[in-house]
Amino acid sequence: VRIFVPLDSFAVASGADEVARRLSLQAASRNEAVTIVRNGSRGMAWLEPLIEVETVDGRLAYGPIEPGDVDEAFYEALVSASGHARCIGNPEAHPFLSRQTRHTFKRCGIIDPLDIADYERHGGLAGLRRALAMGPTQAIEEVTRSGLRGRGGAGFPTGVKWKTVAEAPGDRRYIVANADEGDSGTFADRMLMEGDPFCLLEGMAIAGVATGATKGFIYLRSEYPVAIDVMSRAVILARRANLLGPSLLGTDTAFDVEVRVGAGAYVCGEETALLDSLEGKRGQVRAKPPLPAHKGLFGYPTVVNNVVTLASVPEIYRTSAEAYEELGIGRSRGTMPLQIAGNVRFGGLFEAPFGLTLGEIVDDIGGGTQSGRPVRAVQVGGPLGAYFPRSLFDTVVDYEAFAARDGLIGHAGIVVFDETVDMLRQARFAFEFCAAESCGKCTPCRVGAVRGLETMDRIIAGSPGTTQLELVEDLCNTMKFGSLCALGGFTPYPVMSAINHFPEDFDTAPQRLAAE
Ligand code: NAI
Ligand code: SF4
Repeated sequence: VRIFVPLDSFAVASGADEVARRLSLQAASRNEAVTIVRNGSRGMAWLEPLIEVETVDGRLAYGPIEPGDVDEAFYEALVSASGHARCIGNPEAHPFLSRQTRHTFKRCGIIDPLDIADYERHGGLAGLRRALAMGPTQAIEEVTRSGLRGRGGAGFPTGVKWKTVAEAPGDRRYIVANADEGDSGTFADRMLMEGDPFCLLEGMAIAGVATGATKGFIYLRSEYPVAIDVMSRAVILARRANLLGPSLLGTDTAFDVEVRVGAGAYVCGEETALLDSLEGKRGQVRAKPPLPAHKGLFGYPTVVNNVVTLASVPEIYRTSAEAYEELGIGRSRGTMPLQIAGNVRFGGLFEAPFGLTLGEIVDDIGGGTQSGRPVRAVQVGGPLGAYFPRSLFDTVVDYEAFAARDGLIGHAGIVVFDETVDMLRQARFAFEFCAAESCGKCTPCRVGAVRGLETMDRIIAGSPGTTQLELVEDLCNTMKFGSLCALGGFTPYPVMSAINHFPEDFDTAPQRLAAE
């Protein structure tokens, strides 16, 4: 019997390690040959730890199962596939999963993340094999035709970036996976690295084949200990299986990867600060140009791609660019792993083609708020993303549609707030966050964030809103157009969206706060 207990941080935070231990003890006490596989998460966070068992009719899932639930009766129900109050049936038939189009996350939660044979049985390595057969020029054309754009947030066309690196002069090139996932409410990079690490390595190897790079780095944040452990072990196993190393899948093409752990600064997710940090320096933003594609790591042409971007690549090559390009809307092609979080009933990862509306995601898929109160605001795109009110819930997940409404999809983190949210405090938080995380290199951000925070505090203290808000708007314009990178440049999004869409929280602040 194979029992699956996720090693994913969602599950571990809810007691999965102890659940696995207790299941082993139950099996041992009965002398039963049970294999406990530590798989990734299916992405249904509210059901974690979600325990699955293999039966002749497919898998049966039970969740949430906490350590205290693992008694003899549960074990008996699990191994005999008999009924249990927490049984949700076949996990793939669950509406949260059956409505998804799993492209990048197709194996996540299904395979043993550290079994390369299991990875290959589920479609792994076929993309790299095809890319190696194509050669660099055709491989770049393939990713270009797929329409894939950077999933870290900026949505830059991946094919253009790879072509720029391939054509830039230099006697070596690098592939850097940006795994410094720092946006609030996001966990797609982490889930992928914990649940399907070979997929990221295969994507990096394909990028290496396409651009002529022979070395890659994964810049992984220190706050992700499980991902660090799984990725590091996956690199060793991948070398043994020639997914990495001097002879990729037996060919004469070489590509190797190292995992490097960051120290926890948000700004190190910005690609040039990340490169400085990788070089062993303090993570500070570099002026662009030169672009990393021309002069990146140690001055050599470098592809810096987000984890999800790179992990989307193997399946594109395994199937075809056209199959991927057929999905989506407008210039946003393919699928996006939406991360639904905050005050929401059904939080988790939902991969779907671009084109869903915010309302469908929050009300229909997310099931509204966990608190049961009406949804008031949704922040999309991390701490630097705009707040959307209900009246804009018809906004479609599409890079251009979000930009047209002064927002950004970013890394597709969607954080839900109920009617108790105070948007004045949320706007204040944006400045506070920027002040704390600013690398200090440019004045609009370093000084602007602190001045913004002070101005917000004056509004909270009862200073006339209109005068202070004029100052904030002026400051936001300076930060937006004068900052060197997105941290200072995007802080105006949450601030101005809070002011524009929820003016009542600013007008009535002194009276409201006095009454509190
Ligand atoms: P950007 O628009 O300056 O650049 C996007 C990418 O395209 C970069 O890699 C850049 O080097 C590359 N690029 C631009 N022009 C190019 C050219 N002509 N040839 C080759 N490559 C070219 O955006 P940036 O500052 O890199 O990222 C900002 C985004 O980061 C925001 O949209 C935000 O959503 C996102 N973000 C994501 C976080 C996360 O946790 N994933 C955290 C914070 C921000
Ligand atoms: Fe540094 Fe902020 Fe300027 Fe970015 S905007 S370079 S984080 S000071």
